[in-house]
Amino acid sequence: MRLYRFFEGEVPHYLSRHFWWAYMWRGLTWFFDHPVIISSILFGQYKKLKQATVEHVARVAMKGRMLQLTCVYGKLTPRVMERLDPAPLHITDIVPVQLELARDKAPDPDKLLATRMNAENLAYRDDSFSTLLIFFLLHELPPGARRNTLRECMRVLLPGGTLVVTEYAEKPRGHIFYRSPIARRILYRAEPFLEPFWSEDLLALLRELAADFGKDVDVASHQSFFGGFYRVTEYRLGEQI
Ligand SMILES: C[S@@+](CC[C@H](N)C(=O)[O-])C[C@H]1O[C@@H](n2cnc3c(N)ncnc32)[C@H](O)[C@@H]1O
Repeated sequence: MRLYRFFEGEVPHYLSRHFWWAYMWRGLTWFFDHPVIISSILFGQYKKLKQATVEHVARVAMKGRMLQLTCVYGKLTPRVMERLDPAPLHITDIVPVQLELARDKAPDPDKLLATRMNAENLAYRDDSFSTLLIFFLLHELPPGARRNTLRECMRVLLPGGTLVVTEYAEKPRGHIFYRSPIARRILYRAEPFLEPFWSEDLLALLRELAADFGKDVDVASHQSFFGGFYRVTEYRLGEQI
């Protein structure tokens, strides 16, 4: 039975088709929002990745407005909010249930400025934010949606601003989970857009998209996890010379 059809409508097709059970069905969101489940999905690396992400954000987010692009399970959003306090955190997602969950977990709900938007077409003005955080979103997007989303990131980030990306690393050719055809097959089954993501040169793509707005991008810092399987990367925006 094609259950995803019940979830089609006001969200992009890839989301209802492949991820309705993970993000849209209220009956399962409580299940996924448990540390043990999140940690198993990330092979025991969740805590480290969350802490590293919060540290990166805390270092750069003090000087302006910050946007978290899409909601995430677990305690990342409340931890980021604690570090930003008294400044608010802007957050956006296309699925209302996810925004409700984020609000329920916020230490101070008045300081979570949650709005429903498609990441591919944000309603924020150009140069609205100095910090933008994306946590494990990019590999879940088909290439066209990823490109549109990153284009929006380059548009809404100020020159001098920082994009923090916590994600699968670039194609981890030496890692056992990549070298093993069985492990790879299981991963591709669970993550239908991971293969094209692994083939993407993220920095080259960001540079191409930033150029449309007279901006340039460089890697400001990079941290690897789990034998090079995951990463936390800070991309710094500048003006094009
Ligand atoms: C951040 S990603 C992956 C998060 C990761 N699996 C976790 O929870 O730790 C999942 C979120 O992205 C949202 N999302 C996916 N595509 C989107 C889009 N085009 N616009 C806005 N939100 C989107 C989903 O609704 C979901 O809440």
